Amino acid sequence: MKTILQKTKKEVRLQPKKVRSKRRTYALPENPIEFYISEETLKYRNNKPFTIYYDNQEHAIRLLKGDCIEVLNQARENSVDMIFADPPYFLSNGGITCHAGKMVSVNKGKWDKSMGVQGNHEFNLKWLRACQRVLKPNGTIWVSGTTHIIYSVGFAMQELGYKILNDIVWYKRNAPPNLSCRYFTHSTEIVLWAAKNEKSRHHFNYQLMKEINQGKQMRNVWEISAPQTAEKKYGKHPTQKPVELLTRLILASSKENDLILDPFCGSSTTGVAAVLNNRKYVGIDLEEEYLQLSVKRLEEAIGKKESDLFQESKVSNL
Ligand SMILES: C[S@@+](CC[C@H](N)C(=O)[O-])C[C@H]1O[C@@H](n2cnc3c(N)ncnc32)[C@H](O)[C@@H]1O
Repeated sequence: MKTILQKTKKEVRLQPKKVRSKRRTYALPENPIEFYISEETLKYRNNKPFTIYYDNQEHAIRLLKGDCIEVLNQARENSVDMIFADPPYFLSNGGITCHAGKMVSVNKGKWDKSMGVQGNHEFNLKWLRACQRVLKPNGTIWVSGTTHIIYSVGFAMQELGYKILNDIVWYKRNAPPNLSCRYFTHSTEIVLWAAKNEKSRHHFNYQLMKEINQGKQMRNVWEISAPQTAEKKYGKHPTQKPVELLTRLILASSKENDLILDPFCGSSTTGVAAVLNNRKYVGIDLEEEYLQLSVKRLEEAIGKKESDLFQESKVSNL
């Protein structure tokens, strides 16, 4: 993969519109995904480059490979409508868990190693600050997590002046059993929903949520199963979220054509839900393996959307 400075064929075909900056003139894409990263900012951060891993202008999808804090700090301020973040839970401590009836290690990768309570909190503060800067004034962020990080995330949000809107309890009916038999079985995750700040006038599709909930006001406890086998047919991400969860979050808090960002995108479950619901998507991840998986899943979602549109047009032409 090439850096942003070595443009690939797939990359944005710049239709330059000259824009004056203090340092030099640079080009903005004519029809950018609003989340624009200036080429010039890369130069003074030359030890930590990132790459545009996948760029699909037609469907407004972009995958970036790199550290999300670095990337977000170079992105355009006030440019994102909605963020979903599924950060490291810092669970990879050599323990064991149960998967498909077997005892397996909980270690997910270097990215999930704890830096200690203070270190983990510092990290949460940094990426949440970077997300807050790129959110539009009325934009919102969703963050999923378990006990291991969610209190730190909530506290960091309060420290940064986010306005916490809801805490969703995601209940997993098919949660694996607890092997040690010394604790209750974990079967929930919390998903915090917050607006950029106290002044934000956040968007909530109240009526749609009510319709989805058989005409009753939707509550903050959602029963959604862990991802189905079909969602893992291109390979597994160790912490993959179900498309159903992401679909609900996106439908609840964004409009068609909004820009959705996932700074810890993994296998791009967020992107799949965004594409299927006509939203733009930017995903960031450190790991090539997960970005490869993302591309396969995103291209499948594009194919599905196109075939649905084709079927609809056939019906309307009858
Ligand atoms: C909990 S997983 C996200 C899984 C995703 N929600 C899905 O459905 O596939 C967290 C992801 O964040 C990535 N990651 C960890 N630290 C990162 C960082 N500083 N910048 C960008 N990505 C990071 C990991 O590689 C991992 O794929």
